[in-house]
Amino acid sequence: MTTEPTDVLISREALQQRVAALGRAITSEYAGRRPVIVVVLKGSFVFAADLIRAIELPLTVDFLGVRSYGDGTESSGVVQITADLSHSIEGRDVLIVEDIVDTGLTLRFLLDNLRTRGPRSLKLVALLHKPARSRVTVPIDYLGFTIDDVFVVGYGLDHAQRYRNLPELRVVSEHE
Ligand code: IMP
Repeated sequence: MTTEPTDVLISREALQQRVAALGRAITSEYAGRRPVIVVVLKGSFVFAADLIRAIELPLTVDFLGVRSYGDGTESSGVVQITADLSHSIEGRDVLIVEDIVDTGLTLRFLLDNLRTRGPRSLKLVALLHKPARSRVTVPIDYLGFTIDDVFVVGYGLDHAQRYRNLPELRVVSEHE
């Protein structure tokens, strides 16, 4: 069995346009503030790199590494922080950047965890949402695209650590 990316789901141009629009919305809503952009590794790093350059604010960036235990296709909700933030977020306006909200279990854990650290505000920007697989409700404040229940790779997202460097989002299909 091999697994390869096939159809383009979201093109480079569509990604660029949507990320620019998200950047404009965040710029106007956080005007006068200095948000901390918390990038959830690894899948979000490409999206975050484009997004922060579309935000015209004196922001700072920090990274959070997480590992979600599951059966390979679905996370269980048991999430381990593998690399924690390097600075306190107490009293700060925190914006979490996530690649995809699938079951929502990873984000539920992260929102609950970060809220205990006393941020002034805590919001979420997600590039993709798969509502068909949602197990818990997660408030997505800024959303790129809603997609069907397909496995996607590219633009930072992987399948077994591969394909993160594809410039567009493609669907993965399995064949003999
Ligand atoms: P959740 O806890 O089920 O919401 O898991 C979210 C995480 O699962 C994301 O941050 C991704 O790392 C991974 N994931 C879920 N769906 C996909 C997909 O279609 N492609 C690549 N990774 C995915």
